[in-house]
Amino acid sequence: MKPHSGGIKSFGGSWMKKLLAIKFLLAAAVLNPLSAHATTERQEAYRAQATYATNALLHNLSERDIAPGAVIASPSRSNPDYFYHWVRDAALTMESLRRAYERTTDPAKRERYLNHLLAWVEFERGVQLASSDGSHLGEPKYYVSGKPFTGPWGRPQNDGPAARAITMIRLAENLLAEGKQDLVRSKLYGAEFPARSPIKMDLEYTAHHWDEAAFDLWEEVKGHHFYTRMLQRTALKLGASFAYRMGDPYAAEYYEKQVALLEESLLAHKNASKNLIEPTLNQDDGWTHKRESLDVAIVLGTIHAGLADGFFTATNEWVLSSADVLERRFREIYTLNRRGDLGTAIGRYPEDVYDGNGFSGGNPWFISTHAYAELYCNAAEQLQRAGKLDVTTRNQKFFSQFFKGRSAPRAGARLTQEDPRFQTVLQGLRKGANAFFDRALTHKATHGSMWEQFSRHDGYMRGAPDLSWSYASYLTAYMSCFSGSVD
Ligand code: NOJ
Ligand code: NOJ
Repeated sequence: MKPHSGGIKSFGGSWMKKLLAIKFLLAAAVLNPLSAHATTERQEAYRAQATYATNALLHNLSERDIAPGAVIASPSRSNPDYFYHWVRDAALTMESLRRAYERTTDPAKRERYLNHLLAWVEFERGVQLASSDGSHLGEPKYYVSGKPFTGPWGRPQNDGPAARAITMIRLAENLLAEGKQDLVRSKLYGAEFPARSPIKMDLEYTAHHWDEAAFDLWEEVKGHHFYTRMLQRTALKLGASFAYRMGDPYAAEYYEKQVALLEESLLAHKNASKNLIEPTLNQDDGWTHKRESLDVAIVLGTIHAGLADGFFTATNEWVLSSADVLERRFREIYTLNRRGDLGTAIGRYPEDVYDGNGFSGGNPWFISTHAYAELYCNAAEQLQRAGKLDVTTRNQKFFSQFFKGRSAPRAGARLTQEDPRFQTVLQGLRKGANAFFDRALTHKATHGSMWEQFSRHDGYMRGAPDLSWSYASYLTAYMSCFSGSVD
């Protein structure tokens, strides 16, 4: 393998486990040298797309006519007009750049990425301070000048401040690890109250408003959302330990209390009779077209929350069952999925009608399809770390997909490292993740451009071209599945 090409991520664990894994890979390669070769070639294609995505993302950040630090959702200024800064899209885009920053060893690139990250922090600080009393931080959408968009819109959207806090806290931790205390204190966190620093403003807002109904990440439904609350929980959980670290224990304690309450409210999203996580509870406004309790927002909530603390993480039986039912549904309703052996093209939710510019019918999205790849790799990583898998009535169906034609483990079974079925699952998850990458790569433009959606019928791209979030989601999925640089 060329030194720059990404390998399958190897995860911690004892050297014994690693040795076992290596033996296993070697055995697979010896048994089938052709497939090993094909894997290398495909991995090279995945890596090449990561580089394309990084450059395309940087290109969006360097657009002329925008305030420094603004993140356009897409360069498209009409049909659709996505030439705005969405707080959510921006935070998720910056999270992918932050992770690239962590990976890259090239000093020039590191400096460039950090400059973009800090410019974004400054931009957001301006936006936050303009909401004078801090009560409007749920504003979802801004002009590229930094002025809030004032037309009719689904507001507030409270996932935005949570996503922004998560990325900024992680960035602050990166900077602290580099000894840049002063930078963190001057730009990111101060203990003063009322809050004036970017991280604390979002944490205070989140801690005081998480229980209020808000619009969902698709800007359509107002209520209490699993996605939003998962991000709020992570923001406040990371926020609490960060605040302690910054010498702000009273704030930390308050955030911790809210985390406990948030967890309680998140557990209420379990719907035992449907064996699903309800995406939304207590809807009180917005569209009422969703009936199936299915939404890729569950998967996105799991991966964007991004903690490996066992709370609705990638191996959670409710998460996997929700992901499984949703995937089957998309296989059924998108004709594109009836052909070939690529991974399932995943959309937002079955009843979706938004085609990216109008309402002719929903399509698969790159962000959703990438999210499945990321979910599968995170699940593989967490299983490998745990060294065992408990098959339950809730996750049995999901795991049975890896045992086509063979008898799948039943509910109640515990598969451990030495069990060949455990390896079958791990391999199935990795292959599955690759199939989702293959799906996405099939529908991108030849040179690498990714739009928002691709047609459920013919696979041609639809909606906003060069969507920042499409690239960001490709990058985080790639980095969750493979080691090596993305630039
Ligand atoms: C644009 C939103 O971002 C999209 O999610 C939604 O479906 C349409 N507007 C319709 O409200
Ligand atoms: C529509 C999506 O539904 C929403 O989540 C996103 O923020 C906007 N497009 C901008 O990309």
